[in-house]
Amino acid sequence: MAGAVPLPTGQAELLEMIALGAPLADTLNRLTLLIEGQSPGLFCTVLLLDDDGRHVHAIAGPSMPPGYLPLFDGHEIGPAVGSCGTAMYLRQTVITTDIAADPRWDGYRDLIAGYDFRACWSTPIFLNSDTVLGSFAMYYREVRSPGARELELINVATHIAGIAIERKRNEEMLKRYRHELEDLVRQRTEELRAEKEKAEAAVVAMSKSNAELAAVLNTLNVAQEELVQNKKLAGLGSLVSGIAHELNTPIGNCLMAASTMHDQTTAFNAQFVAKGSVKRSDLTAYFAEAKNAGDMLTRNLHRAAELIASFKQVAVDQTNSNRRHFMLDTTIDNICLTLRTRLRKTRFIIDHQIPGHLEFDSYPGQLGQVLSSLVDNAIVHGFEGREDGTITIVAQVEREGWVSLSVSDDGNGIAPENLSRVFDPFFTTKLGKGGSGLGLNVVYNIVSGVLGGIVKANSEIGKGTCIVMTLPQIAPQF
Ligand SMILES: Nc1ncnc2c1ncn2[C@@H]1O[C@H](COP(=O)(O)OP(=O)(O)OP(=O)(O)O)[C@@H](O)[C@H]1O
Ligand SMILES: [Mg+2]
Repeated sequence: MAGAVPLPTGQAELLEMIALGAPLADTLNRLTLLIEGQSPGLFCTVLLLDDDGRHVHAIAGPSMPPGYLPLFDGHEIGPAVGSCGTAMYLRQTVITTDIAADPRWDGYRDLIAGYDFRACWSTPIFLNSDTVLGSFAMYYREVRSPGARELELINVATHIAGIAIERKRNEEMLKRYRHELEDLVRQRTEELRAEKEKAEAAVVAMSKSNAELAAVLNTLNVAQEELVQNKKLAGLGSLVSGIAHELNTPIGNCLMAASTMHDQTTAFNAQFVAKGSVKRSDLTAYFAEAKNAGDMLTRNLHRAAELIASFKQVAVDQTNSNRRHFMLDTTIDNICLTLRTRLRKTRFIIDHQIPGHLEFDSYPGQLGQVLSSLVDNAIVHGFEGREDGTITIVAQVEREGWVSLSVSDDGNGIAPENLSRVFDPFFTTKLGKGGSGLGLNVVYNIVSGVLGGIVKANSEIGKGTCIVMTLPQIAPQF
C-alpha cells in the first residue's frame, strides 16, 4: 500500500495534482520523478494501453533520454515484448534483471541499443482484475534485481499511477457522458420543438376546418330553412288550390240554380207582361222549379259552409290560449266519455290504457280534436261494413319528457299505396261521400305544430290501423 513506503517530498503536491485533476501526463511525470528520487540510478516510465487493450503509448518518463519513449509508441503487447509489453500482456510483474540476457527482449534489443539500459522491472497497472490500464517500469543502467524496498516502491508507484489514470478516465467518461447528455437534450429539445410546431400547425388547420365546417353548416341551415319555407308555401299552394277545387262544385251548383231561377223568372215575368195574366199550370210549374232551385241552393250552400268550417280548422291557431297543465289520464277519460256517446247505438267500443302519473303542459282542446278525428276515421273507414270493432288508445313513456300516444283500430286497414298519402290535404277515399280528406291533415298540423310532436300511420289491410303520436309533455312555446 501507499502508506508502507513514505514519500516525504512532493507526495502532498502529487496527491493535490490528482485531486485537482491536473493533466495526466503532468501527474505521472511528477510521480516518476518522485519515485526516481528514492533510488539513485533509477529511471521510471509509464506506458498506457489504448482503449483497444492491445496497443501502447508512452505517457511519462521525464528522465529518459530523448527519443527513447517514442520507440514503443503503437507497439502491440505480447508474451515477449520487452518487460512492459509482456507485463501488460501476462498481467503480472516482469522482472528483467539483464536485458542483454532476457529472451523477452530479443526483438527489442537492437531498438534500444544506444541507450545503455540493463535492468527493467515492469508492473501492470490495473483498473480491476479484468482491465489493465498500463504499466509502470523502473530501469537501471546495471544488471540488477529488486530488493524488498524496491518492490515496495514499485507497488506504491503502480498504485498511485492506477489512481491517477482511473481518475482521469472517469473524468473523461463523465465529460463524454455530459456531452452525450447535452447532445441528447439538444436533440430531444429539437424534436419537441418540431412536435410543438406540428401540433400548433394541426390546431391552426383544425380551427380553420372547424370554421369551414361551421360555415358549411350555416349554409345548410339556411338551405334547410329555405326548403322548409318552400315546402310550406307548396303546401299552402296545394291547400288553396284544393280549397278552390272543393268549393267549386257547391258554388257552381248554386250559380247554376240561381241563373236557372233567374232565367225562369225573367221568362215568367215576360209572359205575364205580354198576356196580362198567368195560367194556373204555369204558376204551379214555376213554383216547383223555384222550390227545386231553392233546395239546390240551400244544399250546396250548406256544403260550402261545411267545407269552409273544416278549412278553418286546418289553420290551427298557434297562439291559442287553451294551454294549461293537465293529467293525461283524466283528460283522455273525459274525451272518451264524449266520444262514447257517438257509439251508443253501435257495437264499437273504445278502450284506453293511460298511466296515472303523466302530467302535461300543453293544449288539451287540440288533443281532444285529434283523438276525435282519429276515432271518427276508425268508425267511418276502419269499421265500414262491419258490425263490431275496438278502438284502443294507449299511452306510455317513450323517454324522459316524451310520451307515445297511439290510437288503433282492428278494422279494414289502409291500402299500402294510400298509406303515405293519408296526411296530405284532400286525400280521401270517400270523395263525394262526405269525406273532404282534411281530417288527418288537421291531425298532422296540430301534432307537429302546437303540440310539438310527430305523428305516423301504420296499417295493414284487413288487420287495422294504428296512428302513433310522440308528444312532448311540455309543448313548445311559440
Ligand atoms: N282508421 C282508418 N282505417 C282505414 N282507413 C283510414 C283510417 N283513417 C284514415 N283512413 C284513410 O285515410 C284517408 C284520409 O283520412 P282523412 O281523415 O284525412 O280524410 P277523410 O276521413 O276521408 O275525410 P274527413 O276526415 O275530412 O272527413 C281516408 O279517406 C281513409 O281512406
Ligand atoms: Mg277523417
